[in-house]
Amino acid sequence: MSTIAVIGGGLAGLTAALAGVEAGHTVHLLDDGALRSSASVQAQGGFSAVTAAGLAAGDSVASHVADTLEAGARHGDPAVAAAVCAAAEEHVGTLSRWGTVWDTDPNGNVSLTREAAHAASRILHVGGDATGAGIVAALRGRAHTLAAQGRLHVSGALPGLSLLLEAGAVVGVGLPAGETLRADAVILASGGISGVYATRTSRFANRGDAAALAWRAGAVLADAEMVQFHPTYSAEAGFMISEALRGEGAVLRDGRGRRFMLEIDERAELAPRDVVARGVARAEGGAWLDAAPIVERDGRGFLAARFPTITAALARAGLDLERAPVAVRPAQHYWMGGVAVDAHARSTVPGLLVVGEASRTGLHGANRLASNSLLEAVHTGLAAVATMGAGAHAEPASLLLGEPVELELAEHRGAPLERVRTLADRHLGVERDAVGLAAALAGLAPAEASPEPEADAVDSSESLAARLIAHAASLRSASLGAHHRRDSVGPATPGATVTLVNPHPAERCATTPDGAAWGQVDARKVLA
Ligand code: SIN
Repeated sequence: MSTIAVIGGGLAGLTAALAGVEAGHTVHLLDDGALRSSASVQAQGGFSAVTAAGLAAGDSVASHVADTLEAGARHGDPAVAAAVCAAAEEHVGTLSRWGTVWDTDPNGNVSLTREAAHAASRILHVGGDATGAGIVAALRGRAHTLAAQGRLHVSGALPGLSLLLEAGAVVGVGLPAGETLRADAVILASGGISGVYATRTSRFANRGDAAALAWRAGAVLADAEMVQFHPTYSAEAGFMISEALRGEGAVLRDGRGRRFMLEIDERAELAPRDVVARGVARAEGGAWLDAAPIVERDGRGFLAARFPTITAALARAGLDLERAPVAVRPAQHYWMGGVAVDAHARSTVPGLLVVGEASRTGLHGANRLASNSLLEAVHTGLAAVATMGAGAHAEPASLLLGEPVELELAEHRGAPLERVRTLADRHLGVERDAVGLAAALAGLAPAEASPEPEADAVDSSESLAARLIAHAASLRSASLGAHHRRDSVGPATPGATVTLVNPHPAERCATTPDGAAWGQVDARKVLA
C-alpha cells in the first residue's frame, strides 16, 4: 500500500481521498479550507450520466459521447469520452454509496433535466440547483468520519506549499518551515484558473496553483488556450444562472427583445456553450434571460422550487425571473486546458497525478459539455487511485499529443493581481486577436519591471497561468470551440493540440510564496 498526498479538497480531491482510504492507502488530504470553498461546491446544474432511467427514455451512452465530442468542437478524444461516459452510471452509484441523495420525481425515480447541447435529459441534480454543494457535503461528511477514525489525515496546507522533486520525479510535498511530507505520489486536485479573471462565475477565485506547480515541475500542459465562458452570468447579482433554466425553456433576448439565438444556431439557446456565449457577448444592446416561457408552462412558484439557490441569489440583488428578464453576460467559467494526463491520471512527471479541472484529459475538447465536469472530477479521482493500486504511478504518461513547444518563460516579480485580471478580461476572453494577445503578454511580464530575470523571482500563480493561456492562444491562430479569434487565419484544426512544456523545471516547485493560496488555515479547524 502507498502513501498519497492529495492537494485540494473539491470533488476530485475528495473522491481520490475517499477511494484511496477504501483501497487501503495512507492518504493525506491537504486543503486550504476548500473543504468549504471550491468550484465543485458551486456547481449548479448537475452531473451528467445515462442511467437506467435515461436508457428507458431512449437515451444512450453513445449519444452522451456524441454530444460531448460535438460540443467540444470535435477536438476531444473519442476514446476518453467513451470511457468516461460509459462509467458515468457507476460513478453515480459510488456517489450514492458515499451519501449523495439525488433529486427524485414524485414517483421516486431519479429526476433528470436537460442542459445545452445534450440530446436528451440526462442531468442528475441535488437540491434543485445545488448539485455540487450536495455532493461535496456528502463526501465531506464521509471525510469527517474517516478523519475522526484516524483513517484519513486532513490538514490545512499553508502558504508556500511545494512539490518535492528527486531525479525528475515527484516524491512528496514541501510544507512550510521546511517540513516535508514524503509520498509515493502526489495527486494534484486544486482546480482551475478562475482567479485569473475578474469576471468569473466562481465566487472562489482559484489562483491557478495547480497549473503553476505542474509547470514548474516540468509537466506538459495542453489546451491552455481553451477557457470556457458561461453565457448567463448576472453581474448585478454576482451570480451565474444555470444553463438548466434554458434547458427548462428560458430564452435569451437582446436589447430590442429579439430572440437573437434563433438567428445564430438552429439549437438556439441550447447550442453549445461557446456558441451561446459569443451570441450573448455580441447581442445588440445587451442580453437578457427571459424565464416567462417556464412561468407560463409551470406556473408561479415553480422557479423558486426548482432553482432555489439562483432564486435566492437574484432576490438578494432585487431581481426576480418570475417578474422580469435578468440582464446576463458571459463570465469565465471553466478551464478545458490544464496539466496533460493519460487515462490513468498520470502527468508526464513521474509521481505526479492530476485530477479534476486541473487536468486536461481530452474529455472536453475545445468546449466542455454542460455537467461533464463533476463527472470528470469523479472519474479522474477514481482513476488516480486505481493507478496507485496498480503500482503504475511512477511511470510518466506517454501522451499522443504531438511534440510539446518548449516555452522559455523567464519568471518575473510580475504584474499585480488587479492588472492580471484586467488584462485577462480584456484580451483572453470570449474573443481574442493577435494584437490583444501581444498586449496581454507584454503587460503580464513587463520588461521595465524586471529588465533582467531575477534569479529568485516568481510570477504569482495567476500571472503565470495567464501567461501560459496567452502563449497558447497566440500559438492557435484559427478559431476552435471556445478559443475564438477575431483575426482567425487558416482552417480550424480539431485534434491538433497546443502543448507547452517548461524546459527548465525547478527542483522544488512552490506556489506563490507571498500568497495565501493554501490558506493560513489552522489544520485543526479544516474539518471543523
Ligand atoms: C450550469 O449549471 O449552467 C453550469 C453547469 C456546468 O458548468 O456544467
